[in-house]
Amino acid sequence: MLMNPVEIIRKKRDGYELSEYEIKNFIRGYVNGEVSDYQMSALLMAIYFRGLGNEETKFLTEAYIESGRKLNLSKLNKPKVDKHSTGGVGDKTSLILAPLVACFDVIVPMISGRGLGHTGGTLDKLESIPGFRTDLSADEFIKNLESINVCMIGQTDELTPADRKIYALRDVTGTVENISLITASIASKKIAEGTEAVVYDIKCGSGANLSEDKLDELARNLIRTSNEFGQKALAVITDMDSPLGYSVGNWVEVKECVEIMNPKLPVTGLSLDLLEVTLFLAGAMLHLAGEAQSIEDGIKWSGDKLLSGEVFSKFCEMVKLQGGDVEYIHDLNIYPSSEYSRTICADSDGYLARLDALSFGKAAVELGCGRKKTDDTVDHKAGILIRKKPGYEVKKGDVISEIYGSSEDKLDIAQRLLNEGIGISPNPVSFKSKILKVIDSKDI
Ligand code: URA
Repeated sequence: MLMNPVEIIRKKRDGYELSEYEIKNFIRGYVNGEVSDYQMSALLMAIYFRGLGNEETKFLTEAYIESGRKLNLSKLNKPKVDKHSTGGVGDKTSLILAPLVACFDVIVPMISGRGLGHTGGTLDKLESIPGFRTDLSADEFIKNLESINVCMIGQTDELTPADRKIYALRDVTGTVENISLITASIASKKIAEGTEAVVYDIKCGSGANLSEDKLDELARNLIRTSNEFGQKALAVITDMDSPLGYSVGNWVEVKECVEIMNPKLPVTGLSLDLLEVTLFLAGAMLHLAGEAQSIEDGIKWSGDKLLSGEVFSKFCEMVKLQGGDVEYIHDLNIYPSSEYSRTICADSDGYLARLDALSFGKAAVELGCGRKKTDDTVDHKAGILIRKKPGYEVKKGDVISEIYGSSEDKLDIAQRLLNEGIGISPNPVSFKSKILKVIDSKDI
């Protein structure tokens, strides 16, 4: 029976702790239509200001999980591990990580999201491969995992439907940026997908979705909540002040990943930061899955695997099994290109000091790579190529970036944003590691 929603809203508004019954009753009521959008919005705003305690966060997470089906991967008799990123610019690590970790006979059931706002989404990148399907049913997902250890899909309707409905409401009521709400939203999805371990990649910097002082708290909350449901977890805080790698977009990011995975293709220094983050996350996943004694061992083995070409073969197997046309992966040059392009050049001599991720993310959206609204369509061919990374020496007139899109108007807007995001210093700028901090269960 539905409790009086107004009483529950008042209780949280006045700063009191909600019980398990109250939280679950409210969420159940919202999912089945007995609680209105305006009442849910009021509770979300009360939570936004008052926060949730650890127990309340756990009950909210459980309420989300119980609103749908939990994937049962128990018949897959191997370690199962996933990674979740809080969202970055040019963050294409999943495309390499998933097949890489799967090469170690570890199951990687990766359920990813679409791009929204300035952060890109793994699903949009995968769908830029002609034919690639990310809408597999739960049964198809499990079948693919059984056969090749890896499958990458989108959120199904069956998993945590309460989160889906509430996230859409948070998006339009200014209640996304709350640690407890983010924790329940992310952790519930990772727990419901049935993995035993998860590595959280928490992005820090201009292209991240959260301010720096909140990141530690989010990392600890995510780890604690995962652990409470019996899931091993570790968080890595990584730098997102500038885009990862040399590409921002959809197909351009797939192309960069293929160059890294296919040992026959050259990789330049422009992709080094992407490699650093990918190998670290792979090492962390292998360590958490019990395959590597330490993250360092996992990193070393992952590097060897990449060089062996096995990861590339695994990626091709995955593309094929999910309906993608591997011709495009084997010959990267047959992909159609955008109609319009332009170069962005250095306006002085010096050292590249700033390549602002947020500006690049926003420019990518303007070019059509991402969405302003959830129902926008994306242009898979559009994108940004970065030709100089922070720390590089530049001369006036050197190309820093190339932009691609379907109209001159789009290029104009993107160019303006990029000009604001590029900074050249007369003094040398040092290269920095992208790995800022590791937090594990012992730290919470
Ligand atoms: N991503 C999610 O899935 N949920 C949030 O609440 C925030 C980011």
